[in-house]
Amino acid sequence: MNTRNFALTLSALFVAGALTTNAFAADNLADFHAEQLSCDACHMESGELSNDNLSFENGKCQECHGTLEEVAAETDRGNYNAHDSHFPGDVSCTACHAGHEQSLNYCDSCHSFEFDMPYQGKWQRNEPSIAKLQQQADERKAALAAAPAASVDVLVVGSGGAGFSAAVSAFDNGAKVMLIEKEPVIGGNAKLAAGGMNAAGTKQQQAKGIDDSIELMTKDTMKGGRNLNDPALVKVLVEDSAGSVDWMTKMGADLSDVGRMGGASVNRTHRPTGGAGVGAHVVQVLYDNAVERNIDMRLNTRGVEVLKDSDGSVKGMLVKGKYSGYYWVEADAVILATGGFGKNNDRVAKLDPKLKGFRATNHPGATGDGLDVAAEAGAAMQDLQYIQAHPTLSTKGGVMVTEAVRGNGAILVNREGKRFVNEITTRDKAAAAILKQTGGTAFLIFDDSVRKSLSKIEKYIKLGVVPSQSTPQQLGEKMGIDGANLTGTIAHYNELVASGKDTDFERQQLPRALNEGNYYAIEVNPGVHHTMGGVKIDNQTEILDSNGKVIDGLYGAGEVTGGVHGANRLGGNAISDIVTFGRLAGEVAAKYAAKQ
Ligand code: FAD
Ligand code: FUM
Repeated sequence: MNTRNFALTLSALFVAGALTTNAFAADNLADFHAEQLSCDACHMESGELSNDNLSFENGKCQECHGTLEEVAAETDRGNYNAHDSHFPGDVSCTACHAGHEQSLNYCDSCHSFEFDMPYQGKWQRNEPSIAKLQQQADERKAALAAAPAASVDVLVVGSGGAGFSAAVSAFDNGAKVMLIEKEPVIGGNAKLAAGGMNAAGTKQQQAKGIDDSIELMTKDTMKGGRNLNDPALVKVLVEDSAGSVDWMTKMGADLSDVGRMGGASVNRTHRPTGGAGVGAHVVQVLYDNAVERNIDMRLNTRGVEVLKDSDGSVKGMLVKGKYSGYYWVEADAVILATGGFGKNNDRVAKLDPKLKGFRATNHPGATGDGLDVAAEAGAAMQDLQYIQAHPTLSTKGGVMVTEAVRGNGAILVNREGKRFVNEITTRDKAAAAILKQTGGTAFLIFDDSVRKSLSKIEKYIKLGVVPSQSTPQQLGEKMGIDGANLTGTIAHYNELVASGKDTDFERQQLPRALNEGNYYAIEVNPGVHHTMGGVKIDNQTEILDSNGKVIDGLYGAGEVTGGVHGANRLGGNAISDIVTFGRLAGEVAAKYAAKQ
C-alpha cells in the first residue's frame, strides 16, 4: 500500500469508528508516524524547516493525505467535521497538527461542543507579551545588526480584512508588498464576520428599491456611537462605503443580499446571496487576489517593533518568526492592521471591569499586541475604554449568533416567555437588556421562514446549538421557557407584524410573522465582541503621535484604530471600516513609499 492509500485507510477506519481518538493518542505527527515513516518523508534534505509557513512540510502532508477538502470528504463525522473548515485561505495541516510538539485543535480555542474532538481540551496559548519580548535583548540586537532579511515598499501587519485590503491596494498602487500574520491561519476576526457589510447608496440597494443616503448612514453611525465618533473618519467610512462594495465586487465578491442590522434605519447590510457569512467570503476574495498578485505572505510571523530612522520616519519592522526567530524587514511604510483585543480578557477587564470573565466572540489572536507595538512607536490612543459586548452568544458552544437572525425576523424572549426589548436596537442596549433577565440569558426564537431566509442558520443547526419543536408550547417545555406565555407572545407578535407597528418595543422593522413550520430557540447571553478604541489616525490613515503629529511612514486601518465607531459600533460597520480604511491605507502608503 502506498503512503497516500495508507493515510486514507487510516482516515476511513477512524470515520468508521474502528479506530478511536485514543488510537490517535500520539500528540504530534512525528510520534504518530514514527513506525512507518522516516524524517525525510516530511522534512527537506537539509533538515531545516522550509519557512514560517512550513510550506514544504505541509506540501508533504498533502502529498500523502490530499488537500484539506479531500481530507474533509474522508472525515465527515456527522454534526461536525474539523477539516471542513469555515476558515478562508489555504489552511495548513500544521495549524493543528504539530510536528514535534503537542498538537492542538485550533477550533477548541473558541468553541467547546459536546463532540469528541481530537486533542480536545488541550488548547493553550503561550504568547509572550510584546513587553516580555523586549527582554530578549541579545537576540533582537543580533537580528538588527544583520542585514534586513527582505526589503519591500510597504509592510502590512495582520491578515484580516484591513490587512488584505491594504496589501492588495498597495500592490495595485505600484508597491512591492509583504504581509505578515502571527497566527497559523489568515483572516483574524474578519473571517468570522457573519451579518454583513454596511454601505449606503449601492447598486445592490438600488436594485432592491432601498432608499438610503450618505446623510442617513452618517446619522445612524453617529447616533449608534453616542456621537463620540470622529466625524472626519465617519465621513470617509460612509462616503466610500458604496465604492468599497464595488471594489470588492469587482474583485469577485458577491454582496447582493441586503438586510438589516441593529441601529440602521434602512436595509444596508450587504452579504452573499442566500445569507452566508460575509467575513470568510470577503477574506477569501481578498486572499485570492493577493495570491494572484504574488504578494509575499508570511504566517506565524509576529511584528514586534516598528523601526525608525534618526529623523523619526519608519524604516521597517523587527519581526519574530515562530520557527525562524527574529529578523528585520526593511520597508518605507508599515501599515498596522492588527485588529482589536477582545480575546484578551485581562486587557479588557482593566479598561472595563464590568466585562471581567466574559466570554468573547473573537479569534484567539485578538490580544491587542498591535497596540503595544504602536504605543512603543509613539502612537496616540483613543477611546480604549469603549468595549462592545455582542448580545447573542449561544450559551452552548460559544457560537456568536449573528444579529442578522434578528434582522431577518427572530424575536428575543426571556425565561418567562416574554419579549423585553426592541430586538434590532443597538447592541449595547440589547446586551444590557439581556443581562437584566432571569439568569442573565435570553432566547432567540424563530421559525422555518427565518431559517430559510439566512443560510448561516444552517451552520448553527449543524453545530447542535438550535433545539427545535413543532409548536411554541413544546419548544417552551424543551427549553425551560414558560410555554403558555411563549405561545401568547408569538401570537401577539404576529398581530403586530400584521398591523405593521410594534406598539410594545418600537421595533421599526417587522420582516415576517413567525408562523411557518418548526420553531427554534437558541439560548444566548452577551460576550465581548468589538474594541472601539485604538491608535489615533487622521482621515488618510496616518498614525498620529500624542502631539497630533503624523508618524511618517506609519499607517493604521481596521479594529486597531479608534475614532471611527465612537462609543459603540453599529453591526455591519466594521467590515465597511476595514475594507474602506484598508484600501485607503494601501494607496496612501504606496504613494508615500514611492516618494522615498
Ligand atoms: P482582524 O480581522 O482581527 O485581523 C487582524 C490580524 O492581525 C489578526 O489575524 C491577528 O492575528 C493579526 N495580528 C495581531 N497582532 C499581530 C502582530 N503583532 N503581528 C502580526 N499579526 C498580528 N463586523 C461587521 O461589520 N459585520 C459582521 O457581520 C461582523 N461579524 C462579526 C462576527 C464575529 C464573530 C466577530 C468576532 C466580529 C465580527 N465583526 C463584524 C467585526 C469585524 O469582523 C472585525 O471588527 C474586523 O473584521 C476587524 O478586521 P481587522 O482586519 O481590523 O482585524
Ligand atoms: O451579529 C453579527 O453578525 C455581527 C455583526 C457585527 O459585529 O457587525
